[in-house]
Amino acid sequence: MYLRGLEKEDLQYLHKLMNDEEVMELARFRPDHMISMEGLEKEYEDELKQESGHRRTFIIVDNQSSKPIGWASMRWWRPFSTSTELGIAIGEKDHRGKGVGTEVVGLLTDLAFDQYNMHKAEMFTRQTNRAMLGAAEKNGYKVEGVLRETIYFNGKYHDGVMLGLLRSERTSKIPKA
Ligand SMILES: CC(C)(COP(=O)(O)OP(=O)(O)OC[C@H]1O[C@@H](n2cnc3c(N)ncnc32)[C@H](O)[C@@H]1OP(=O)(O)O)[C@@H](O)C(=O)NCCC(=O)NCCS
Repeated sequence: MYLRGLEKEDLQYLHKLMNDEEVMELARFRPDHMISMEGLEKEYEDELKQESGHRRTFIIVDNQSSKPIGWASMRWWRPFSTSTELGIAIGEKDHRGKGVGTEVVGLLTDLAFDQYNMHKAEMFTRQTNRAMLGAAEKNGYKVEGVLRETIYFNGKYHDGVMLGLLRSERTSKIPKA
């Protein structure tokens, strides 16, 4: 698989994926978790103009079918930030658990350090998300802390985990497809 920039034509795909119950639960920590097509279009326009914070969204594409299989993102909070938060969701369930997530974390991490000149890359996930923790840890990310009952979903609070990797710790590069 490979990453490419988000195109307007991808929004329909993202709309379906981001409103998927499981993806909402695991990968979107918003008060209402759902997003409308209009909301996505606004986010897309804002991202182009870099108006609402700073974010780059990528589409994960399957090499063989050339079809999107998920999205990945890189977000930073101030214009001259030296650390960035990475996000990833593989929408097509039959692509999960086969190493794609590990590879995408590797590609995003390389982008963060080699192209965006970041000093540190971070990831945040639910404590029970073994696949995300595994993909991050296989790329050298270390658990920096547990944020107790910080995620609210389906009437319950859930613990979150913050993971981080310094540029100096990035040793093994994942072979690129
Ligand atoms: C989280 C996600 C990106 C991980 O990608 P993936 O391709 O499924 O994960 P990988 O196949 O690269 O697995 C990485 C490691 O995690 C572990 N792992 C994977 N799936 C697992 C599962 N279902 N249960 C427990 N451990 C698992 C394994 O240790 C694996 O290492 P291994 O290859 O040595 O066995 C993907 O599952 C996904 O998009 N899930 C839904 C959305 C989501 O949770 N996004 C993250 C939000 S923070």
